[in-house]
Amino acid sequence: TVFDTPKDGSIHVAQRIANIIKEKQNSKEKAVLGLATGATPIKVYEELVRMHKEEGLSFSNVVTFNLDEYYPMAAEDAQSYVSFMNEHLFNHIDIPKEQINIPDGTLKLEDIPAFCLEYEKKIGDLGGLDIQILGIGRTGHIGFNEPGSAPNSGTRLVTLDDLTRRDAARDFGGKSFVPTKAITMGIGTIFKAREIILMAWNGKKASIIKKAVEGEISSEVPATFLQLSDNVEFILDKDAAKQL
Ligand code: GLP
Repeated sequence: TVFDTPKDGSIHVAQRIANIIKEKQNSKEKAVLGLATGATPIKVYEELVRMHKEEGLSFSNVVTFNLDEYYPMAAEDAQSYVSFMNEHLFNHIDIPKEQINIPDGTLKLEDIPAFCLEYEKKIGDLGGLDIQILGIGRTGHIGFNEPGSAPNSGTRLVTLDDLTRRDAARDFGGKSFVPTKAITMGIGTIFKAREIILMAWNGKKASIIKKAVEGEISSEVPATFLQLSDNVEFILDKDAAKQL
């Protein structure tokens, strides 16, 4: 679906999320949301915060699972995805802290596999993700599933692609400060969500969006695996869609 502006697309996505939250409130269930970081979803979070403040949308029945976190990464670091989510969403809504889940960038290396299995189990025990929102990296990554990721991959420690680290360099004040690894939900984890929305805005994403939507399905461009799912919607602005 192509929108005129990122704001129009973001409002559409925020409304979809709000509808899920309200449906679940009515049936006294938890809404289980898969969330993403990066510049792309910021306006979605802005709109959700607006709905909370102006329309009384409550997040008390919401459980969130973030896609990924750099490794190693202290939660309180400005560049952590914990800080990002607090700044853009969690500090401004009424979600109980214990209902927020973000991969832990402070774990000892040997504790990561058990943490990742537990992350998957927590999602499964809640009945799975009702919705997963995604951005896309210029390598074609979703979450931090870089080229080479398998379609059935689970939550795990991965090595970041050089292009991903170059793109993150601005946030870290230089590429050498960008962690070389991350913990990410897998493609298989993402695929289990009942609904998947991938968003992309602006012309810089146009060529990777063309590959993701129309290219050959291959682990070289992990987002192409989304072509295999019936539950995926690409929400784009005109510029991101211009090569389709
Ligand atoms: C990071 C995140 C991804 C995100 C991507 C694109 O690598 N781990 O989840 O999709 O950046 O970022 P942006 O939205 O800033 O273009």
